[in-house]
Amino acid sequence: MKQTILAIETSCDETGIAIVEARGGLKNPSFHVVKNALTSSQTKIHTLYGGVVPNLAKREHIKNLPIIYKRLVGLPGSAAEKKIWKSIDTIAVTVGPGLEPALWTGITFAQELSKKWKKSLVGAHHMQGHLYSMLLDRTAKVPPLQFPAVALIVSGGHTMLLLLKDLASWKNLGETRDDAVGEAFDKVARMLKLPYPGGPEIQRLAALGNPAAVPFPRPMVNDRNYEFSFSGLKTSVLYYCRDNPKTKTADVAASFQAAAIDVLAIKTFRAVEAFGAKGVMLGGGVAANKALRMRLAQDAKKRGVQFSVPKMKYNTDNPAMIGAAAYMQLLRKKKNPLKANGRLGM
Ligand code: KG4
Ligand code: ZN
Repeated sequence: MKQTILAIETSCDETGIAIVEARGGLKNPSFHVVKNALTSSQTKIHTLYGGVVPNLAKREHIKNLPIIYKRLVGLPGSAAEKKIWKSIDTIAVTVGPGLEPALWTGITFAQELSKKWKKSLVGAHHMQGHLYSMLLDRTAKVPPLQFPAVALIVSGGHTMLLLLKDLASWKNLGETRDDAVGEAFDKVARMLKLPYPGGPEIQRLAALGNPAAVPFPRPMVNDRNYEFSFSGLKTSVLYYCRDNPKTKTADVAASFQAAAIDVLAIKTFRAVEAFGAKGVMLGGGVAANKALRMRLAQDAKKRGVQFSVPKMKYNTDNPAMIGAAAYMQLLRKKKNPLKANGRLGM
């Protein structure tokens, strides 16, 4: 089944609209991103508050959606707009998980478009978008994905390990009990007086420091389960900085990053061994972290396991991945209600 999907993402602080051509069916899906437009202007606003404020995010999405729509589809009423809508089969919009006031802005916008252009509307899952983002603009040259596979999805709101039988069926092996790993990066960055979002800032600073300078704990690394906990690690950094104000911030950043990556990699590959996985997939905003990508790539190579990651621009929140999630959902005949659900499960 071939589908051209117009996809809308407003679950957190990025407003985005994309057009994605999906084909190949459940077994061999491929996604060509025709257009992908998003703002990151919100980043600046949220920097002032050190994080995302739901009602501010909502206001920004309402302001940004028509601007991005114009950039992507053309002026309302124009010939360009009509031409694009002729090619669209379905509209997709993120319904969760995420910030509900932010999600609603996208849903309302999508509903208006669906009514106006008489197109069906799919409520898509944000984390499934992260899971499938490594399929966006994947070239035909790369070998087919190997299953079973373990997927590590790491974002600002989630840290989860999935066991995939194929691209359409999975089991949730475990999640974080407290902070998501991206959240820990953001909070540690704040302690080190770095701007929001903290992940890229920690990465930049960590490259200048010694990852073995401070032996931060590796929470739950020896527990025989696939759950995570990052709140204790964050608190250790806080106490360490309070008690050792002379340690270079680059060393603190590098040591924190090393501890977080260690836990993620060890638990991922413990799952690989336990379930005889042939592939490891990575997704979510923290997948942009170069040290994490390198570590997982090396560990996978050592074991002869296939490693798949999204292209750099599709790690953090983007609307194209929502198009991919919607296509897979359509084929799996999974329907989500068209209402914001902050805690929508996998
Ligand atoms: O997936 P995402 O864009 O939004 C959510 O769904 O949460 O993830 C955002 C998270 C933030 O916590 C951000 O600090 C983190 O991803 N992040 C990174 C990097 N780039 C973004 N964390 C570590 N290293 C990076 N290079
Ligand atoms: Zn996300």
